[in-house]
Amino acid sequence: MSSSSSYLIATLFLFSIITSSIATGIIGVNYGRVADNLPGPTKVVQLLKSNGIDRIKIFDTDSNVLKALSGSKIAVTVCLPNEQLKSAAADQAFTDNWVQSNILPYHPDTIIESVAVGNEVFVAPNNVTDFLVPAMKNIYNSLIKNNVRINVSSPIALSSLATSYPTSSGSFKPELIETVMKPMLSFLQKTGSHLMVNVYPFFAYGPNTDTISLDYALLRDNKGVKDEKSGFVYKSLFEAQVDAVYAAMDALQFNDVKIVVSETGWPSKGDEAGAGQENAAQYNGNLVRRVLIGGGTPAKPNNPLIVYLFALFNENQKTGPVSEQNYGLFYPNEQKVYNIPLSLADLANMPNKVELTPTPAPAPRPVPTQGDVQANNVGQTWCVANGKAGEKMLQNALDYACGEGGADCRPIQSGDTCYNPNTLEAHASYAFNSYYQKQSRVSGSCDFGGAAYVVSQPPRYGNCKFPTGY
Ligand SMILES: *[C@@H]1O[C@H](CO)[C@@H](O)[C@H](O)[C@H]1NC(C)=O
Ligand SMILES: *[C@@H]1O[C@H](CO)[C@@H](O)[C@H](O)[C@H]1NC(C)=O
Repeated sequence: MSSSSSYLIATLFLFSIITSSIATGIIGVNYGRVADNLPGPTKVVQLLKSNGIDRIKIFDTDSNVLKALSGSKIAVTVCLPNEQLKSAAADQAFTDNWVQSNILPYHPDTIIESVAVGNEVFVAPNNVTDFLVPAMKNIYNSLIKNNVRINVSSPIALSSLATSYPTSSGSFKPELIETVMKPMLSFLQKTGSHLMVNVYPFFAYGPNTDTISLDYALLRDNKGVKDEKSGFVYKSLFEAQVDAVYAAMDALQFNDVKIVVSETGWPSKGDEAGAGQENAAQYNGNLVRRVLIGGGTPAKPNNPLIVYLFALFNENQKTGPVSEQNYGLFYPNEQKVYNIPLSLADLANMPNKVELTPTPAPAPRPVPTQGDVQANNVGQTWCVANGKAGEKMLQNALDYACGEGGADCRPIQSGDTCYNPNTLEAHASYAFNSYYQKQSRVSGSCDFGGAAYVVSQPPRYGNCKFPTGY
């Protein structure tokens, strides 16, 4: 390809991202340090910058790392280790001290965006699950005492699900629901933080090569997998796994909490099926493109993906199978293990590897069965706008509902039956409800990225009558 035509394509690509109404997602990288041969933190910050990586996650609050990040504009998620959960849960004085010595000396010169309280706590060797939510609350309160507003969350493993297939039947393990998931989701909802989830299609692929295609696992072109219940066609196992967690949250009525994928990756070496350099490059490269091009998953088209790749380096002191030491994007000598884009700038410079048309957020097209429709008519529900969502978000969601979404928006046109009251919230509510009813009230169809929620009483906006079914 000539350089002028690749320049043109790069320009077109950036233009299409900038003018597209789809919000682009976010890519971050996990900076693990279970190794004895890694470059020092100052060199690592240079490496991050030169690759356009502006978000990282670490597994502790290492002071050399946090100091090196000062002034770098790279936002970091830090972690309170599982071993400290018990103390953190027991005593506010402990978390006061923890915040005093691990956060306040660095923030905000070092941008600490989130605290991950523990890591994959439900599968940790010592059972510390009972301490998790109390520890999260204590950390949060200690931050607030110091007027510091930082997200407080906790990465859960995908094994927290009892069911993940079909995607829309996703549900949490029953023993986790009342004890920890509900209190945790309620905390996240109140504090406006995301649920952190570690998602590894690699682990699902290995034992199931007869039923899961490698193309589907690596986000390559494939015919997709249809969820018969929701009607969504999934083009990647990654998106199906994320939506299975969303379905599990929806089932507990927490349909406004968003997910951040706190870890995902694919090893470039190992004995398991699928491990290898070419596959790792495909998985990570295709995922980065998918995230940066924008849009959410089929069930949550308005929640752009936020994904932290695992990991920055190969880590030679990790235990377990060979693959464990080979998740890195970089070797310890800072050479790339494979060449993939990591930022929007990279995408524009690697036009030969980019799809030029952004994949639009797929509009939900559920195919409800007769049984679903009848069952839904028993307890009637409606969808209304969330007044707190903000004008921009409501307007975008309204535009989507009345446009691609296919809602019936005639009644809110000037002079028509539901034009009054002439407010954004009232009009958005009408449109969201129309969309929701047309989708037969399936889970996820009254969300619009948090701009809408389900109610069980008929909405009241002037004399406007809200339909309950089509
Ligand atoms: C909380 O996390 C979200 C998602 O990563 C981010 O957009 C937001 O800015 C964070 N909030 C703060 C206060 O850093
Ligand atoms: C952890 O402890 C709680 C109660 O303390 C219990 O309900 C739960 O089943 C335990 N989990 C595991 C994996 O042993």
